Amino acid sequence: MRRVIIAFTLLLPAMAFAASGGVKLQHADNDVSDKASLQAGAKLFVNYCMGCHSAQYVRFSRIGKDLGLSDDELIENLMFSTEKVGETMTIAMDPDDAKRWFGVTPPDLSVIARARGVDWLYTYLLTFYLDPSRPWGVNNLVFKDVGMPHVLWEKQGWQKPVYETKTDDEGKSHEVIKSLELVDSADEAKSEQYKKDMRDLVNFLDYMGEPAKLERQSLGWKVMLFLFVFLIFAYLLKKEYWRDVH
Ligand code: HEC
Repeated sequence: MRRVIIAFTLLLPAMAFAASGGVKLQHADNDVSDKASLQAGAKLFVNYCMGCHSAQYVRFSRIGKDLGLSDDELIENLMFSTEKVGETMTIAMDPDDAKRWFGVTPPDLSVIARARGVDWLYTYLLTFYLDPSRPWGVNNLVFKDVGMPHVLWEKQGWQKPVYETKTDDEGKSHEVIKSLELVDSADEAKSEQYKKDMRDLVNFLDYMGEPAKLERQSLGWKVMLFLFVFLIFAYLLKKEYWRDVH
């Protein structure tokens, strides 16, 4: 049994590698207890993603409560149409129209962080590159032939692939993408800010996937504290009982 577990543990990184199509994932290093980051991520989400993606299991009021925003701040910063704070993050786009425009309906993103993992999402948002053969002129390193346009190109700039030649087991050589580089080197100045923005956005997606995570973490500490106090009383009680015995 132990050997099976060890073998499985050794295989895990390889499995993650396979899931990303052979591309090394970059670390999101996000922190769901960082409220400023979650607020920034929420803003990016409503501005850049909710044109096409809903988050229909998430209520604005819940976000307000968890991220420390009043109803007025919510309405001003995150809500642009007529939704009431108690409503969920649905969108106006008709799924049939979406299918016609994109070939696929943009999926609901409420639990995407659980389905894909934060590192995959972070890498996905960082690795759109120019590919004239695709309908939107872009492709993605971890999502081959993706149907989503690079909606954040203004923030990141355009990237182009740098190729290298690799020889496979049968001796045939292939052109494979080695890395991506910015088309306009002036965009390099934006790169750190873009990474920070994507970390915030992924952080928000992570939070949405499990809003209870924040609560669970603080509850965890309370439970530990309770158990500790309980231990002291249990010890005193034990001493009390055994005094007569000795
Ligand atoms: C113009 C419409 C549009 C916008 C805006 C948009 N997306 Fe998408 N997105 C799509 C479509 C269409 C797909 C489906 C791609 C496919 O399956 O080939 C998609 C797919 C995705 C996926 C992959 C889902 C999966 O299947 O695992 C993620 C993650 C994603 N989008 C995140 C985002 C984020 C984050 C934003 C905001 C920065 C955003 N999208 C903005 C249209 C959009």
